[in-house]
Amino acid sequence: MPPAVAYDPLAPEVIDNPYPWYEALREQSPAYHDDHRDIWVISRYDDVLAAARAHDSLSSSEGITYARAPIPMMITIDPPDHTRLRRLVARDFTPRAIAEWQGVVDGRVAECFDELLAQSPVDYMQTLAFPLPVTVIAEVLGIPPEDHAQFKVWSDGIVQGFSLTESSERTMVGSILDSLTALKGYLAALIEQRRRAPADDLLSRLVDPGQADRVSDEELFWFCMLLLVAGNETTTNLLGNMVLALREHPDQWRLLQERPELVPPAIEEVLRFDSPIQGFFRTAFKPYEVAGTKIPVGARVLLLFASANRDPRHYERADELLVDRNPADHLAFGSGIHLCLGAHLARLEGAAVLRALLDRTKGFDLAGEPVRGTNPNLRGLLSLPLTFARN
Ligand code: HEM
Repeated sequence: MPPAVAYDPLAPEVIDNPYPWYEALREQSPAYHDDHRDIWVISRYDDVLAAARAHDSLSSSEGITYARAPIPMMITIDPPDHTRLRRLVARDFTPRAIAEWQGVVDGRVAECFDELLAQSPVDYMQTLAFPLPVTVIAEVLGIPPEDHAQFKVWSDGIVQGFSLTESSERTMVGSILDSLTALKGYLAALIEQRRRAPADDLLSRLVDPGQADRVSDEELFWFCMLLLVAGNETTTNLLGNMVLALREHPDQWRLLQERPELVPPAIEEVLRFDSPIQGFFRTAFKPYEVAGTKIPVGARVLLLFASANRDPRHYERADELLVDRNPADHLAFGSGIHLCLGAHLARLEGAAVLRALLDRTKGFDLAGEPVRGTNPNLRGLLSLPLTFARN
């Protein structure tokens, strides 16, 4: 176990394998202050859960990644505006509303598998895990199919820009601005078109003048941005982390083959075991106490969801992947008012891919070294070369 006092969330060795560091934090310093970066780090399950629910004291409005970046998106807005915006979209993301997308998602997954199985070896990330979530979000929003490819190019540019880290900050700004401007123009025209001729899609419902709370065009634009930023790379990471975890735990893959009814709990367990979002920041607007330590007003505080999910105080055999565990209370989707809006969509996509993997293959193997991404908030793969044994 490394000493907690050496923890730096942006250090390459921490990004590569953060779990020993999380153990050190939980055991040695549950309210840790990183003197160099002047941030506080919360790592135990009960403390992360309480902090995620303490939005009156710990605000999201100064940004939730390392750099303080207030952006007018629901995820970085406090009540009462947050409540108003969330209410407008909540009904499109309930389990029942999302279940309506099952057929579309299964269809897209089948197309990706046709491509995956036609080539061997193949990069699973490039062929399935990257394209699937952005196509699904485009469908949910109501982007016409002929524009999906262009939409994906802009979306990729913007998502990269939002993964700003210290070193990439300057170089990224140019490319994110180009994509933002192009997408903004495209969406403005589409919104106008939906105003004139509403369709049965999310965009049309949001621009409906019959809505009790009107959404401004600016808010609508940032909501579309949020879906792209919050829903793409996260789901990509779930799809990648899931396959890698099953490759590294062949007994759990065999258990799933014997008992495919375990697919839904397996998705929850993969989310717990290797969480796509490792942690997000808050700013203390009031003094806040954790594990007997007082965090002062103005402090930046990192809530480590992924460490909470590995806390042995909360989960037995926390460092093991057990697909029949069903950890319904994991914090991979956060908690409190900002609990992930797209959680049911992400689950639907994860389960559709896992079912296809079980139905259409006998198994899979690594065909090269997986390449890990370097974003400190998000944990996932850039490349996962695989060979498949077809069923
Ligand atoms: C496995 C995939 C995903 C993971 C792990 C994930 C995780 C999270 C987490 C941890 C939060 C809470 C942020 C906070 O407390 O600061 C969040 C919020 C959010 N997520 Fe997700 N997410 C995923 C997929 C999606 C998808 C597919 C969508 C949209 C289609 C989405 C939309 C959102 C939105 C809009 C919020 C902000 C909610 C609010 O502020 O009220 N997410 N997500």
